[in-house]
This record gives sequence, structure tokens and C-alpha cells, in this order.
Amino acid sequence: MEKRQELFVGKAKSVYATDDPDRLILHFRNDTSAFDGRRVESLERKGQVNNRFNAYIMGKLQEAGIPTHFESLLSDTECVVKNLEMIPVECVVRNIAAGSLVKTLGVEEGQALTPPTFQLFLKNDALHDPMINESLAETFGWATPDQLAEMKALTFRVNEVLKALFAEGGMLLVDYKLEFGLFHGQIVLGDEFSPDGCRLWDAETREKLDKDRFRQGLGNVIESYEEVGRRIGVDFG
Ligand code: C5P
Repeated sequence: MEKRQELFVGKAKSVYATDDPDRLILHFRNDTSAFDGRRVESLERKGQVNNRFNAYIMGKLQEAGIPTHFESLLSDTECVVKNLEMIPVECVVRNIAAGSLVKTLGVEEGQALTPPTFQLFLKNDALHDPMINESLAETFGWATPDQLAEMKALTFRVNEVLKALFAEGGMLLVDYKLEFGLFHGQIVLGDEFSPDGCRLWDAETREKLDKDRFRQGLGNVIESYEEVGRRIGVDFG
């Protein structure tokens, strides 16, 4: 397979076309952004750590019967994925209150959420990814009711698989964001799953081991990502 032109430069990844219209190459860069891209830093090794982390998680999800766009690792910082038609809606599940939930609703950080919550956000940087709901998504044509139901069901299945995986490594899966797309009409998990897009706490000490270390200036960002990976069996090469 041949790598062709750069199609898109995101905040942390770049997307390339290939000679196969059904396949793309994702390049995980070292760039790390927070606060809607107002803070960007390059963190050494992040591209390779997230590339391998994501490959491992996508493999686990696929084994559990969840369709993902992941196909194969291509290099330290690149992987081959299916070319999805992305749905511009982010799905967030929360098991424990943190982040924007704490800010917008004034609830206490660390509170267990029973049952876990499910939220939709519009993927739109200029509008700061506003929270939306099924009605708005349907009316504005961002996703159909059937697609939304499937995305919700898959997002909760991911929760069961990954809560158990991280629990084995002594961690709590606090929350995470997923993005989906269509591949020949089928809803498929896209984007990435890495400590950039989820919250993970040590189960005993509740130490933050995810991107909040970057957002909150806690230091040892990539070291924590590697620690998370080691605890669940990711091979960083
Ligand atoms: O900021 P908030 O608390 O709503 O984030 C919930 C989860 O979704 C966090 O794990 C965060 O890292 C992730 N997220 C993301 N990309 C966004 C928004 C949220 O990865 N654009």
C-alpha cells in the first residue's frame, strides 16, 4: 500500500490518503493540545506511545465483537485504518464525575455515577464542541436515530470491555470519548482510544494517569501513559 497526500491535520494526528480508497493512514504526532487548542506542546514519545496504545485497545475491542476502523500498525507512529465517513458527534460515557460534568453541573469530582451517564457533543472546534442531544442530531442531520442508537449501544459495550481491562491493571475508567463513522453503511468505531481521550485513575490512590496531567500541569504525562499501558499489557517495543 502506498502513502499518498495529507488529507487532514488534526490537533494530535494527521490523516493521509493511500492508493486504496477504502484505506487511510493515521499518523500520531507528539503534539498535545488542551483548552480547545489554546495550549499546544510537543511531548517526546507521545506519537509512538498513543499509536501502540490505540492499536492494543482497538484489538481488544475487535476481539469483543465491536467493529473498529483499525487494520494494522504501519510504523512506530502510524497505523492503517478503514476510510470512514465520520459522524460529527462525540459520544461520552462517564462512570465517575470529573471534567466538564463537575464544571457545568457543580457535582462533586469523584462521585460514582450509577448508572453511568451518556452524552453527545457536536464535533465543532469553532463552537467549542457544544453538548447536543438526539433531537438536535436528527433535526440537523448529523446522525439518524438508528445510527445514534447503535452508537450509544456500542459506546456502552466499550465501557464493559474497557472497565474490566483497566480494573485488571488496578485502574478506574472514569470517562472517555468515542467517535464513529460509516464504512459501506455500517457504524464503525473510529478515531483513537488513548489516555488523550479518556480519564484513568489509579484505583487505590485515585492518582490521575491521563491527559488531565497535561491539562492540570501535573507533569510526567507520557510516563503516566506508559505506566497505564504497561499495567494492561501494551507492548511499547
Ligand atoms: O471535558 P469532558 O469532561 O466533557 O471530557 C469527557 C471525556 O471525553 C474525557 O475523557 C476527555 O478526555 C474526553 N474528550 C475528548 N475530546 C474532546 C472532549 C472530551 O477526548 N473533544
